[in-house]
Amino acid sequence: MTSTKADIKSPEGKLGVLIPGLGAVSTTFIAGVFLIRKGLTAPIGSLTQLGKIMVGKGENTKHVPIKDFVPLANLKDLEFGAWDLFQDDAYDSAINAGVLSREQLDVIKDELKSVKPWKAVFDRDYVKKLDGSWVKKAPSLWDLAQMVKEDILTFKKERNLDRMVMIWCASTEIYQETVPGVHDTLANFEKALKENNKKIAPSMIYAYAALDLGIPFMNGAPNHCLDAPALRELAEKNKVAMGGKDFKSGQTLMKTILAPGFKARMIGVNGWYSTNILGNRDGEVLDDPESFKTKEVSKLSVLDQIFQPHLYPELYKDYTHVVRINYYPPRGDNKEGWDNIDIVGWLGYPMQIKVNFLCRDSILAAPIVLDLALFTDLAQRAGMYGIQEWLSFYWKSPMHDFDKEPVHDLFVQLMKLKNTLRWLMDVPLVTYIGTESYD
Ligand SMILES: NC(=O)c1ccc[n+]([C@@H]2O[C@H](COP(=O)([O-])OP(=O)(O)OC[C@H]3O[C@@H](n4cnc5c(N)ncnc54)[C@H](O)[C@@H]3O)[C@@H](O)[C@H]2O)c1
Repeated sequence: MTSTKADIKSPEGKLGVLIPGLGAVSTTFIAGVFLIRKGLTAPIGSLTQLGKIMVGKGENTKHVPIKDFVPLANLKDLEFGAWDLFQDDAYDSAINAGVLSREQLDVIKDELKSVKPWKAVFDRDYVKKLDGSWVKKAPSLWDLAQMVKEDILTFKKERNLDRMVMIWCASTEIYQETVPGVHDTLANFEKALKENNKKIAPSMIYAYAALDLGIPFMNGAPNHCLDAPALRELAEKNKVAMGGKDFKSGQTLMKTILAPGFKARMIGVNGWYSTNILGNRDGEVLDDPESFKTKEVSKLSVLDQIFQPHLYPELYKDYTHVVRINYYPPRGDNKEGWDNIDIVGWLGYPMQIKVNFLCRDSILAAPIVLDLALFTDLAQRAGMYGIQEWLSFYWKSPMHDFDKEPVHDLFVQLMKLKNTLRWLMDVPLVTYIGTESYD
């Protein structure tokens, strides 16, 4: 193992993973960690657990496991805390989600039963399709934020935690623009919390509570909570890592793999139509047009940055990009996605590509949650705060500084991630191309 950069704090001690939303993704993630710890399954899909990184050059080239190269928390040191508006513990919720088999869940039943959600901060105006009773009540939004902080601090004490990260795995909220006077500055935001301003979404309350306690916050849904300049100000003030948004798991992952290939070969695209059927609770929530709008904006954002129509008008000017999600209960978590891509070749001749992806949404998302928990904790221990652009690899709609454009190409994102790890460990960055530079 390469020597650790002096200013990265040690990962010794326990890491608490705080999760708003104990549903399909989060229970699949938690159950996976319990099963992996017992040596019963492999962490497929996780870069932190299976990925390698190339260091050195020529004869001295080595391919080192990422988890040996950078000081990451060990899976045995993870503790899980969650909030939900349904009282089901992680075992019951996982059974209900129907992603993993009962047989597999029963092996870790006691561990899953011990993850019991705290009452949620919830407002039906933000997720119209859900209604639960396991919800905090308080005179103001400010008081709700204090209650979330109490949950966190009690958990920290009870489990003897050294550090924590928060990852939003709760439902997609309705589309919420930044409102001047409410979300723009920290002072206005805190005032609005005290005045019970309904423009503050529940996700913002969790994010505020975490960032105010110096705990990094990562946003797995397309909610705009971290776009509030007030919360960015808080993260800068407390020197806390943050990032989002929307796990890049299925159809969008395929898009950011395929589109850079078309672009590289100067193949034109006239249209890209994506639709899917999905029957889990996430699908039900997204059946509400206002929650779907948040998702749609996130999903639509990826192609323009890759195709750069302003630089390549002959290939991509006015291409049509449509995204649909259809709630179809029989499929549960086993989403089926169809992409029809109308491409254009030499002399303008049209061709079509059809992608039919029979995926499992939470199986794809769970390793992303694990990697984000471990890499975010690493960033925080290394003193990296604010938006973690190097983790764009994991997001459909990567957050970035106001004056920059996000990067969507999966392979550029991976190079940035690995070079950030090299930079952290004081080894030369890889900027040349060779077969060995896949790592
Ligand atoms: N599965 C994927 O591939 C994927 C990809 C990208 C993003 N996401 C997003 O991840 C999130 C979770 O997806 P899922 O499939 O687990 O959904 P899910 O519906 O199974 O789980 C979400 C849980 O959050 C709870 N919840 C809602 N509002 C809450 C609040 N304010 N506080 C606490 N709990 C709350 C719900 O009761 C539910 O149990 C969704 O926003 C989804 O859009 C999922």
